[in-house]
Parts: sequence; structure tokens; C-alpha cells
Amino acid sequence: MIKKRIILDADTGIDDALAILYAIYCPIIQLEGIMVGFGNTSMEQAADNTLRLLALAKPKQEIPVILGATKPLVRPRGEYTVHVHGENGIGNIELPTTSQQPTTEAAAEFIVRMANENPGELTVVTMGRLTNMAHALELDPNLTTKLKRVVVMGGAVHVPGNVTPVAEANLWGDPEAADLVFTSGVPVTLVGLDVTLKTRITQQQLDILTRVVRPEHKQVAEFMQSAMRHYFNFYRQTNYFLDAAPLHDPLALMVAVHPELVTYQKMKVRVECESSLCAGMVVADLRPIPKVGSEIEVCIDVHAEHAVGQFLSVFE
Ligand code: RIB
Ligand code: CA
Repeated sequence: MIKKRIILDADTGIDDALAILYAIYCPIIQLEGIMVGFGNTSMEQAADNTLRLLALAKPKQEIPVILGATKPLVRPRGEYTVHVHGENGIGNIELPTTSQQPTTEAAAEFIVRMANENPGELTVVTMGRLTNMAHALELDPNLTTKLKRVVVMGGAVHVPGNVTPVAEANLWGDPEAADLVFTSGVPVTLVGLDVTLKTRITQQQLDILTRVVRPEHKQVAEFMQSAMRHYFNFYRQTNYFLDAAPLHDPLALMVAVHPELVTYQKMKVRVECESSLCAGMVVADLRPIPKVGSEIEVCIDVHAEHAVGQFLSVFE
């Protein structure tokens, strides 16, 4: 079986954690490394969470954790989303420590080196701000031709935002980085709130998973149960979802390896960077003859039941 070679870029919060666990157990993914950056929590906390998750999941080979950006390209950093992901980013669950350390290479250098060593082979899945990708493109503008694709969890095209009326968190947190990546020419697939908010995991599904999970994944299922309690509470308060929460970051990763889970539309887009009211908004030129922005692939619908089923299947 030819595996898909994936680099994750996480701001390791609760849904990032679920995506990381999926990546480790999905039989068609070869996980090349996990870069971390600020966002849901600090970059350092995201690194610590990632290392602890790896220790919990016990992958067959050591997966490098690579330190990245601590702040946006140009603007001041926003508050960490403690109300969504808890004080430590993973629902206040204390996972055991580990002896694995982050690599000494920085995220931007890591992407550039990996892409030079494996041209056309690697897909980067970004699950936080696009700052690490932007730094990498600044370091090597020819990176655009060496990556297979960048799959981005972010944005809201036909639906409202989740931080402001028009902006989704990952783009709002560093609009300049997102605009730089989208207009760079690197092939981009946008997996935004249009599809992630439809892809919801429920408490009932987690309860079933706890019963059917493979014995070696029992502790992982227990972690998901505990961390998701925090996430379900947040989504009940903000979206009126009852014992259900979106699989934002896991869906982006699943789209990278199972593209048939979604339908797409090519659009020319820019990311708004000037206005304070609309910062981080995806401005899609949907006119018959679009003129503004660069063409990217935008997910507009999802087979949500299949996506949730696919997510759960790797733990059974
Ligand atoms: O808007 C959802 C996204 O913001 C997810 O990636 C979540 O983890 C946060 O980073
Ligand atoms: Ca995230």
C-alpha cells in the first residue's frame, strides 16, 4: 500500500489532538513530523501537548515534533482560546510526561529541507495559524513547486465566522500569513467552517467507541472522552449543539487522504488584512469572471456521516 506522506502543523488544542491521534493510527498515513505554533495555546504548550499525546499513542516510530512560530507575522498575538480548549489546550487533561524532546531545527527550515529532499511527495496539513507555512515560503519561495499540496483547516466562505462575524480562528489569528500562503501559488485546499461545522462527533459515538475500541487504544479513547467533555460544553454554549462538536482539524487531515469525503469548488480568494472589523475574512471572487485573488480549491460540502465514520474507524 502506498502511504500518503503528511506533515501536520498544529496549535495543539482538543481537535488538533484528535487529528494527531487519527494520523498515528490511520493505515494510509505516513506521518513525517508535527510542527507546532501558537494559537489555541502557546507554541511551547502546543509542543508539550503534542509530545505527551505521542507518548500516549505510542506510534511505531518516533515522530519528530518541530517548534514553530510564537507570534503572527506582523500583528500582535491574540488571546489563547482557554474558553474553548481549556487552560492547557487539551481540556485540562493531565497526560503523563515523556522523555522525547522537540527537534533543534525550526519549523520553516524543516518544511524547506523536507520538501527539497522529497520534491512533490509531501502534503502539509495546517490546523492552526498559517505562520509556519508563511515563514517557510519566505525562506524558499520555490517551495511552491516542491510541496504536493497544503490542506488548510481554516476560513468560512458561505457561512459565518467563529471569532468574528466573518472570520474563522486560524485565519483571524494571522491574516497576513494566510494571504501570503493563498497567493503564493502553492496548491491549497481550504477545509473551512462550511464543511467542518457539519462534521460533528457525538457523545453517543464516543460511548460506542469506548466499548469497541481495540484494547491497545483504550487509554487513547479515555483521553478523547475526557477532553471532549470540555469541547462539548463550549459548543453547547456557543452553537446550541447538544453533546456534539465539530471535527475541524481531523476533517482537514481526512480530506488530505480521503478527498472523496468532500466536494470542491475552485475560487479566486484573498484574505482581508486591512479592516479591523473584517480581518481574516476569506474574500472569494464569485463573479462570473473573477479577477481578485489566487485560485485555490475550497471544500463546499461534506459527506459528514462518512467522515465521522472514517475518523472512528482507525481506533476500532
Ligand atoms: O476554527 C477552528 C480551528 O481553530 C481549529 O483548528 C481549532 O483547533 C482552532 O485552531
Ligand atoms: Ca487547531
